[in-house]
Amino acid sequence: MFDRLLLTGAAGGLGRVLRPRLKARCRVLRVSDIADLGAAGPGEEPMPAPLQDKAAVMALLQGVQAVVHLGGISTEHAFEDILPANIVGTYHVYEAARVHGTKRIVFASSNHVTGFYRQSETIDPRMPVRPDGYYGLSKAFGENLAQFYFDRWGIETVSLRIGSSFPEPVDRRMLATWLSYDDLERLVWAALTAPAVGHTVIYGMSDNVTTWWDNTPARHVGYRPRDSSEPFRAAAEARQPAIDPTQPADLYQGGGFVTRGPF
Ligand SMILES: NC(=O)c1ccc[n+]([C@@H]2O[C@H](COP(=O)([O-])OP(=O)(O)OC[C@H]3O[C@@H](n4cnc5c(N)ncnc54)[C@H](O)[C@@H]3O)[C@@H](O)[C@H]2O)c1
Repeated sequence: MFDRLLLTGAAGGLGRVLRPRLKARCRVLRVSDIADLGAAGPGEEPMPAPLQDKAAVMALLQGVQAVVHLGGISTEHAFEDILPANIVGTYHVYEAARVHGTKRIVFASSNHVTGFYRQSETIDPRMPVRPDGYYGLSKAFGENLAQFYFDRWGIETVSLRIGSSFPEPVDRRMLATWLSYDDLERLVWAALTAPAVGHTVIYGMSDNVTTWWDNTPARHVGYRPRDSSEPFRAAAEARQPAIDPTQPADLYQGGGFVTRGPF
């Protein structure tokens, strides 16, 4: 049980999923976004803030024990859009954590940090990054920030390379990348509470039969998924009867992101 937690990106898709689930596990949940946060529920503390505003982010982290940092641009965009939200914004979160002595950050990274590995390869979190665009590059920067702030200042982070966290997997790629909402909650909670994580990188996926990622190096986080994409396989395959492995979107793990742009 935490006293006060901060959830950034609280108005987004995953923020809305995690908001009540985290609220149930802390005394006060501070929620932040630039989008409308809606009415505050019991024990919620809304604090709207643009991540690129350093003073606002400094205020945001005051008095919180840990941060679940989901805020930012969540798909491939022009570098000029990604820079303030994801790169400058995540730097502000870490600087504020240093100033306020925040002990742990759970950082929503992405599978797009390694999107240019092929779907035929199995990779683990220790392998070199191969970002598939400016979005993936910004998440790789966030992971580097996390490593630096641990090595220099002892702030712990679990970087979650989230696959596809949606109500259900809708295409063949998602049969490998799907992360159910219940497993997302398990993953975030394990990342917040594991005794010692330093900076750990872990792929955010359910216990899928088809998988491209080996999370063995991150077992100490204690994340044990319970869901699987398998019950959705027939529907996903019917929706997308065939793939063309000569096409980049079907060849590489990043899927359609690998051909986005130029902007
Ligand atoms: N949903 C997935 O499957 C998935 C996969 C990989 C990574 N992620 C990561 O997880 C996080 C949450 O994803 P999501 O699907 O909920 O995305 P989302 O786009 O629905 O939510 C992101 C939120 O961040 C806010 N935001 C954007 N720019 C901001 C800024 N400059 N200052 C403050 N807030 C800002 C947005 O208003 C939005 O509410 C993101 O960081 C995303 O990159 C998600």
